[in-house]
Amino acid sequence: MASISKNGIDLRAGGKRGARRILVTGGAGFLGSHLCDLLLAQDHEVISLDNYFTGSARNLELSSESPRFRAIAHDITVPIPEELPRFDEIYNLACPASPVHYQMDPLKTALTSAGGVWNVMARARRDNAGIFHASTSEVYGDPTVHPQSEGYHGNVNPIGPRACYDEGKRFAETILSDFTRSTGLPVRIARIFNTYGPRMHPEDGRVVSNFIVQALLGRDLTIYGSGRQTRSFCFMDDLIAGFDALMHAPGATAEPVNLGNPHEVTVLELAEMVLDMVGGRSRILRLPLPVDDPQRRRPDISRAKNILGWKPRVPLDEGLAATIRYFDRRLAEEQARPRKRVAAAVAPPFAAVI
Ligand SMILES: NC(=O)c1ccc[n+]([C@@H]2O[C@H](COP(=O)([O-])OP(=O)(O)OC[C@H]3O[C@@H](n4cnc5c(N)ncnc54)[C@H](O)[C@@H]3O)[C@@H](O)[C@H]2O)c1
Repeated sequence: MASISKNGIDLRAGGKRGARRILVTGGAGFLGSHLCDLLLAQDHEVISLDNYFTGSARNLELSSESPRFRAIAHDITVPIPEELPRFDEIYNLACPASPVHYQMDPLKTALTSAGGVWNVMARARRDNAGIFHASTSEVYGDPTVHPQSEGYHGNVNPIGPRACYDEGKRFAETILSDFTRSTGLPVRIARIFNTYGPRMHPEDGRVVSNFIVQALLGRDLTIYGSGRQTRSFCFMDDLIAGFDALMHAPGATAEPVNLGNPHEVTVLELAEMVLDMVGGRSRILRLPLPVDDPQRRRPDISRAKNILGWKPRVPLDEGLAATIRYFDRRLAEEQARPRKRVAAAVAPPFAAVI
C-alpha cells in the first residue's frame, strides 16, 4: 500500500517529514508512556488521554518536560472531548493489560475494548485520522498451533474469566476492520506478545514484573503450574520501534501484524534467570495453574519482518537487566514513602452504571 491513504492522508511521520498532532489513549501506561516519549522525540505534538486505572503521572515525567505534550484525565468509554483540536493520528492503547487488572472489573474491560474503540473510531472519522490499535496475542487464546501466525484464528473460551479481554480485543479487531473497509481510513493493528521493561506496574501480576519484584524483596518466586509453559518476551524498546514501523511502513495495511520476540523460554527458565541476576535467597514456589492459562506462546513474526523490515534486537538478559535496575530504583523510592494502590478510574466501574 502506498504511504498516501485513499483519503489523501500521508501516513509517513517523523520530525523530518512534518510534525503531527497525535492522540495516545492509555498514554500514562507502561507502553503508552514510552510511545509518548518516542513521538515527542520525533517532534510531534502529543495528547495523552488516560483514566489512570493502571497508568500513572510518574510514567509521564519525561514526556511532561515537553511543551508539546498534554496529559488529560479521560475515560475512553466516554466520547473523546469535542473541544480537543483535530488529530492526525490516534494510537489506541487504553485497556488494562494484565489479568489481575482486567479481571478486576471484567465488564468495564469489555466496554473499554468495544465502546472505547467505538469512540476512537468516531473521533478518527471526524478528524480524518489514521488509527493504530494495540491488540494482543491473547486473540489466539490457548493456541492449538505453534508458533502463532496472523492467519491462525485462535482458540478462545468465550465465557471464561479471560474472555472480557480476549474477546474484547477480538471484537475491537472486528469493528476496526469493518471501519477501515467502510471509511477507507487507515487502521493499523498490532498483535502484541508479552512485552516487559521499565515502567511496568509492580503489582500487575505479569510474570516478568512478578519475578523481579519478588526476587528484589527476597520473597519466593511464584510459578503457576509446572513452569513448563512457555512465553516469549519482547523488550519495550523493540516493541515501540515496531509500533512506529507499523504505523508508517509503506507496505503496511490494516491486516493485523504480530509484534513480539520469538525467543521462547519456559516460565521456570525465566525464574531461574531472574534469580541468577538478582541473587538473594528466594526459592521457587509452585501454585495451581489459573483457568485458561495458555501453555505455549510464541509469535511467528514473518509478516512484520517482510512488510516492516522489523525484528526485535534486545536479548532477554539485557532487557531483564534494565528492568531489574528500574524496579530496584522504584522499590527503594516506594520504601521511602507510603505505598500507593491502583488509582480509581475517572468513570465509574461498569457494574456501578448498569
Ligand atoms: N504489555 C504487554 O505485554 C501487552 C501485550 C499485549 C497487548 N498489550 C496492549 O497494549 C496496551 C497497553 O498495555 P500496557 O502493558 O501498557 O498496559 P497498562 O495497563 O500499563 O496501560 C494501559 C493504560 O490504559 C489506561 N486505561 C485503561 N482503561 C482505560 C479507559 N477506559 N480509558 C482511558 N484509559 C484507560 C490505564 O490507566 C493505563 O494507563 C493495552 O491495550 C494492552 O492490551 C500489551
